[in-house]
Amino acid sequence: MSDVEIRKGLDGVVVDETAISKVMPDINSLTYKGYPVQDLAENCCFEEVAYLLWNGELPSQAQLDEFTKQERSLRAIEDDLLNVMTSLSKDCHPMDSVRTGVSYLGCQDSGHWDNEPGEKSSRALNLLAKIPTMIAADFRTKKGQEVIPPDPSLSFAENFFKMCFGEVPSKEVVKAFDVSLILYAEHSFNASTFTARVITSTMSDIYSAVSGAIGALKGPLHGGANEQVMHMMKEVGDPAKAEEWMLTALKEKRKIMGFGHRVYKKGDSRVPTMKKYAQKMAEVTGQTKWMEMYDNLEKTMVSEKNIHPNLDFPAGPAYHMMGFEIDFFTPIFVMSRITGWSAHIIEQAEENKLIRPLSAYTGPDAREVKAISAR
Ligand code: COA
Repeated sequence: MSDVEIRKGLDGVVVDETAISKVMPDINSLTYKGYPVQDLAENCCFEEVAYLLWNGELPSQAQLDEFTKQERSLRAIEDDLLNVMTSLSKDCHPMDSVRTGVSYLGCQDSGHWDNEPGEKSSRALNLLAKIPTMIAADFRTKKGQEVIPPDPSLSFAENFFKMCFGEVPSKEVVKAFDVSLILYAEHSFNASTFTARVITSTMSDIYSAVSGAIGALKGPLHGGANEQVMHMMKEVGDPAKAEEWMLTALKEKRKIMGFGHRVYKKGDSRVPTMKKYAQKMAEVTGQTKWMEMYDNLEKTMVSEKNIHPNLDFPAGPAYHMMGFEIDFFTPIFVMSRITGWSAHIIEQAEENKLIRPLSAYTGPDAREVKAISAR
């Protein structure tokens, strides 16, 4: 045992400053550049929020038009990247596919060492535009379907539906999806963002930072939880069984996916908005059982443990009702969080100091090396 105080998991440790977002667990609030996230979700489209995170202000109509024009012009992927995405094993998790796609883009970009903020911004925009195309190509290939190219006449959210399903759904579905992207876009020093900042701090490139962040997001304690929520709901099967299922799972000391948070202990500020839109999905699709189950699971967890749902809890069933396969839920999170990651990558690079913490050694005391014949 060491005599220095160790905060496992950096729990409660403030490691740096950021001007991108503020998490306020005491008043259950999250702001992006000062704007409450629930107000952004109700009043803006995802593209406006991406612009805000990268430029510090919401865009004027002319600025938004220019931004969306650029994003739309960058959506198509070259044949070599498309071949990479469509030749991966059918068993490869879509998070591994998108991580590979981002890494491949880095291999093709010979100037990627360029550390100027402007260069990072243009690469971030390119990633924002191309990541959905890669994910949709993987989605279609895994289902044995022809890849559908991006459509520059459509919004970011509409285009993703078109590339996955061949058509744009109702405006209610598109809005619910857009809201989920806004809520997922940024969340200060979460594990994947911190990973991206650590990699950036070594003066490595944006593709390496984003690939590392995708790896961190994949884990079920972080972004992977939105997939696990849906697996759990399928395991429960019936809203009437939810209470009993939860009591048994808690007795068996299982981690209940979609509940709990390192920072929010009284509830996740993003949940009420996402729950409202998941409920709309239930109304639009007629699949009411998932939200009934949601309420029963939440009621039991809160009364037994006082642990509240996090954003992944409503996002999981919402994506399911929109028609996405479960293992594509976390890649959708990537499509959105690329905005927050790259804002942090640029912020880290602008005031960089190598991130290199200390550790308290607990291994054997110093000892003499003896040649093998003497051991
Ligand atoms: N299910 C069951 N118990 C939970 C729980 C959950 N989802 N989340 C927290 N707890 C319990 C822990 O078992 C622990 O109990 P103990 O003190 O009796 O050992 C206590 O609450 C504190 O939890 P801890 O794991 O120390 O909190 P943390 O800050 O390290 O963990 C998470 C935060 C997110 C990792 C954790 O809540 C979790 O694993 N949630 C499920 C995964 C998930 O939804 N992740 C997405 C996060 S946005």
